[in-house]
Amino acid sequence: MKGCIVYFSATGNTEYVAKAIKNEFEVKNISCDLYEVSKNSGFEDKYDFYVFGAPIYAELFPTFYTEWIKKHITKGNGRKCIVFSTQANIIACGPTVFSKELKKIGFEVVIEDCITMPNNYYLVMFKKFTDQEVNDALMKAKERVRLIVDTFMNNRTHFINAKGREIWGKPVFKLFMLWSRKWAKKGLVVDMGKCTRCGLCQKHCPVNNIKVNKDSIVFSENCTSCQRCVHKCPVNAFLYKNKEIDQYKLPKQEQFKRIS
Ligand SMILES: Cc1cc2nc3c(=O)[nH]c(=O)nc-3n(C[C@H](O)[C@H](O)[C@H](O)COP(=O)(O)O)c2cc1C
Ligand code: SF4
Ligand code: SF4
Repeated sequence: MKGCIVYFSATGNTEYVAKAIKNEFEVKNISCDLYEVSKNSGFEDKYDFYVFGAPIYAELFPTFYTEWIKKHITKGNGRKCIVFSTQANIIACGPTVFSKELKKIGFEVVIEDCITMPNNYYLVMFKKFTDQEVNDALMKAKERVRLIVDTFMNNRTHFINAKGREIWGKPVFKLFMLWSRKWAKKGLVVDMGKCTRCGLCQKHCPVNNIKVNKDSIVFSENCTSCQRCVHKCPVNAFLYKNKEIDQYKLPKQEQFKRIS
């Protein structure tokens, strides 16, 4: 039996959880590949089970993530899957809403879960987690991952209760989508004195919203405000509302290896 964890992660939280899940499966001698969708090449739908994970943006999963899955994995064929989100809050309706889509194409969704991780959206909304809150969230996330994998391995199920949230979550997400398209264009500028023209922001933007030119960086109107460009720039050259950015960095990942 071989699984694949298909995820998106703009700033590292979802990747942290995805890697922890892979490790937990491997402790139980189940092999799992990791696939990050913005890489967008070399994926083959050849797995016995899937784990789908993404960050929450205004209650739901980002559209480019769910569209990518629908395009590349067109039939569930009764295969089991786990759906998880990472978010700053304790719950969101993203996993529940996306599970419905997966069931429609024939997946058996056995686990839906929301894993609290440090907030990466503090430039715009909510507060930055303190160091203590970050450490607590990471510890709890790893415990949660163990439970998820145990539940899956023991053929049990686990679902979240986010029903009421769907009623307001979907319209809020629609408004967010309209607003976020111009987020980079309106709020970001790049200090061209600092910028090395390395091209990483252009290469890693999941929706091709950035063009690095010789003398300028230009944003289109397709932004999803994922925060990847601003937090991953190696020289912190982005300014938001003309102010320097306090870049989001998870503490160095300790080894995931765990002996059962
Ligand atoms: C555009 C955007 C919207 C967000 N909206 C929410 C939200 O509605 N609720 C929440 O709890 N966290 C929200 N967050 C926080 C992220 O979901 C959280 O930090 C996530 O773990 C980031 O994952 P990543 O590091 O894998 O990109 C939002 C973050 C971004 C960038
Ligand atoms: S990632 Fe930073 S340094 Fe590299 S091109 Fe973009 S703004 Fe410039
Ligand atoms: S331009 Fe927008 S979508 Fe692209 S990396 Fe930056 S925040 Fe994300």
